[in-house]
Amino acid sequence: MEERLIETKAVIEDIDETSLRPRKLDEYIGQRKVKENMSVFIEAAKRRREPLDHVLLYGPPGLGKTTLAGIIAAELGVSIRVTSGPAIERPGDLAAILTNLGNYDVLFIDEIHRLNRTVEEILYPAMEDFALDIIIGKGPSARSIRLDLPKFTLVGATTRAGLLTSPLRDRFGVINRLEMYDNEELTLIVKRSAAILGIEIDDRGAGEIARRSRGTPRIANRLLKRVRDFAQVKGDGVIDAETASMALNALEVDDIGLDSTDRNMLISIIEKFAGGPVGLETLAACISEEPDTIEDVYEPYLLQLGFIKKTPRGRMTTKLAYDHLGISMKCGRYEQQEIDID
Ligand code: ADE
Repeated sequence: MEERLIETKAVIEDIDETSLRPRKLDEYIGQRKVKENMSVFIEAAKRRREPLDHVLLYGPPGLGKTTLAGIIAAELGVSIRVTSGPAIERPGDLAAILTNLGNYDVLFIDEIHRLNRTVEEILYPAMEDFALDIIIGKGPSARSIRLDLPKFTLVGATTRAGLLTSPLRDRFGVINRLEMYDNEELTLIVKRSAAILGIEIDDRGAGEIARRSRGTPRIANRLLKRVRDFAQVKGDGVIDAETASMALNALEVDDIGLDSTDRNMLISIIEKFAGGPVGLETLAACISEEPDTIEDVYEPYLLQLGFIKKTPRGRMTTKLAYDHLGISMKCGRYEQQEIDID
């Protein structure tokens, strides 16, 4: 599969993303409500000298879940251990991680919905009682012993809270949904990143990149770097609205941040399924993508724009999508619906 410039999952290119990450809550732009609440919970835990309750962060990729986990640890003044659901293969892997934490440390598990069942079951007593139940021996002589663990805070991240089992979800005291960023917030993020990377950019240049970043800081930062390349090679190195627009057009990222994959998906629904409804699996097969990727990566922004809607019978394109693509509704279901109504 060709790599998307507007891929929301972290890719090799993002290795220096860490240098752009805010480290304190007041450097973190956007997610106002989450920030306000987290700062209260962190302060309260510190005053009581207790571990912060376990925190679940959910929302589409690239919105800053890992960044926020790092900030929570920094604000608490503790260390963070970062891992992910698929990386913890056996119960012993998780036991080793848990027993090596310091008191009050943060354990960050990305893609926590991908933990396997046996590992997840170790997590329940660990989260609830800071205890590790281990079975010694086999058969009739097997017995369970309970080991104390350090008092830690689990920060779990997932793209969709609905993917978690309910016993796991119920063990989080704080559940935060991260929202897509608005243009103003993304413009500030682009300007902040440009300052860190030593890139000259004006307000309108930053605004142009923001507008085409589909509400996602990770994409904004990636587009900023690509636009800088164009500015250096084709211009004088400074990013203004014109350079940004020229570069983003060359990168085939359209006016509102859609790329060829998004357009392909919308056009497929319109042309092959008369605007839908079409089931997720069918649509995925049709555009050669994984159903999960469609749900986690493509769909959130298209839903937010109101270009598609989910119905019990599948996905449908809306009038807004036809208008954006410049396709007449006569090609699809809208025309039929109008005829029905008449
Ligand atoms: N870089 C990436 N995400 C950010 C955010 N939310 N605030 C500031 N800088 C960022």
